Amino acid sequence: MSRSETALEMHPYGVEYSYFCTKAAELTGINLHRYKSKQMHRRLVNYMNRRNIPDFPTFAMRLQRDSDEVAKLVEYLTINVSEFFRNQGHWEVLFDEVVPLLPDSAKRRMRVWSAGSAAGQEAYSAAITFAERSFYDAFILGTDIDEPSLSRAREAKYTVDEAKGVPEKLLGRYFRKENGMYVVKDLVKQMVSFRRHDLLGSEYPGSMDLIICRNVLIYFSEQSKQDVISKLAASLKQGGVLFMGATEAIFNSKEYGLTQIFPFFYRRLP
Ligand SMILES: C[S@@+](CC[C@H](N)C(=O)[O-])C[C@H]1O[C@@H](n2cnc3c(N)ncnc32)[C@H](O)[C@@H]1O
Repeated sequence: MSRSETALEMHPYGVEYSYFCTKAAELTGINLHRYKSKQMHRRLVNYMNRRNIPDFPTFAMRLQRDSDEVAKLVEYLTINVSEFFRNQGHWEVLFDEVVPLLPDSAKRRMRVWSAGSAAGQEAYSAAITFAERSFYDAFILGTDIDEPSLSRAREAKYTVDEAKGVPEKLLGRYFRKENGMYVVKDLVKQMVSFRRHDLLGSEYPGSMDLIICRNVLIYFSEQSKQDVISKLAASLKQGGVLFMGATEAIFNSKEYGLTQIFPFFYRRLP
């Protein structure tokens, strides 16, 4: 028996599930093996029950035959829930305390990366934060694994409900109203650029002053989470800061060459 067959046999959810994950990864570009397996299995079973798909081999076959099925699965797997200024208090800490500490703060040309940017809410929140400090030369890179989310992010149009996290005075300053939607003004839009990036597969960009990676690692397996934090730390300039989500504290930050400076903010040690 070959080594890969042994690996399939040993999968806790069985050989058919493991085969499905491999096939689905090929077709969707999402490496299902590297997400939390219990959660992933449960979500896929729920999805199959809802869609009357009897088993994993049938599901794999449907994906192989029908690209619409692939798109539907990607939409289901990438949980794109986001908000502007999610956990507002943390953004206030960013604005008041962290921005002045960033390596290129004095030059006003910081490089910022919103990793797992969904439909752009987080990247534009960052751009607005820098614009409020008159750092219009800050460059914000927004990346996500999900192409439809990236298209929405580039469009920069949000419903009233989606924009509700934006404080009133910022809404007036950085958005215009168009056909009932809030559209990000060019002043901020030109600071942000979006592209596809898989945190579990793509090469990481470097020399970042600030990386915002929030509510993404919660879906990854423990090993993947550790790998990603190491790579994010390596993508920071010395003194650069990693901004994590409200449930994603890094307890052993020193092991990654990081030190906690405020809750959910970690600075790369020199
Ligand atoms: C719950 S949203 C978080 C959005 C935003 N960061 C926030 O906190 O509001 C998770 C995002 O991570 C993206 N994602 C999932 N797996 C990814 C991966 N391997 N690489 C990059 N992005 C990924 C999803 O497509 C989704 O847009």
